[in-house]
Amino acid sequence: MKKTNRFLHYICPLFKKSRMTEELFEQLEFIENPLFETIIDDLLQQQYSIVNDFFSSEEVEVLRNSLLAKYEADRFKKSAIGNRTNEEIDKAIRGDFILWMDEKNANEAELLFFKKINDLVNYLNKTCFLGILQKEFHYAVYPTGTFYKRHLDTFQNDDRRKLSIVCYLNEDNWLRENGGELTIYTEKEDLDILPLPGRVVIFESQVLEHEVKVVKASERMSITGWLKTR
Ligand code: OGA
Ligand code: MN
Repeated sequence: MKKTNRFLHYICPLFKKSRMTEELFEQLEFIENPLFETIIDDLLQQQYSIVNDFFSSEEVEVLRNSLLAKYEADRFKKSAIGNRTNEEIDKAIRGDFILWMDEKNANEAELLFFKKINDLVNYLNKTCFLGILQKEFHYAVYPTGTFYKRHLDTFQNDDRRKLSIVCYLNEDNWLRENGGELTIYTEKEDLDILPLPGRVVIFESQVLEHEVKVVKASERMSITGWLKTR
């Protein structure tokens, strides 16, 4: 049985017999994607998924060059954590510099990035009925000495963020001694994840607390974003 049928029957068993449904199934026709299936299985089982080589080394290089060009043109801003705090408090919580991405004015590198992300979003919506309607992504640079203290990716009064996605754009030779691990706190363990190039980490925004450990050497580069409902 097709996965789409399985999900749809689960949600609305009575729908099964109508002609309308036949047409719906036609529209839902898709080619099973083993990588995306693995991500979904991981998310269902452990609320996070780590994908090495989601982006090829060529793609990482193109994206890193895009980030660096904008960073060197001084387009990044010190990150903030809300409107009720000041810069000193912000800095004690997170020290990264960010630049929001604009899909409508995307350069070639960013088009490549959004193509892959949109493929994943469409797949999630079709096979899991996740209802992702919005997304937001920013570049991030963590200079040496910076970090992001343990937190959840949701804000008060805003539960639209469903999945967090972090894509690492560092050079091949990122060393353990450089620090900058993403630590995810699961019920079972504290999981340290190195920000290796091409690696993508996806996790449930409202469930898993996490932090970025202090960067001890080099600059840590990434794209971070959220898939949102409504
Ligand atoms: C964030 C975040 C993790 C990372 O930006 O909210 O937790 O590994 N980033 O960069
Ligand atoms: Mn976070």
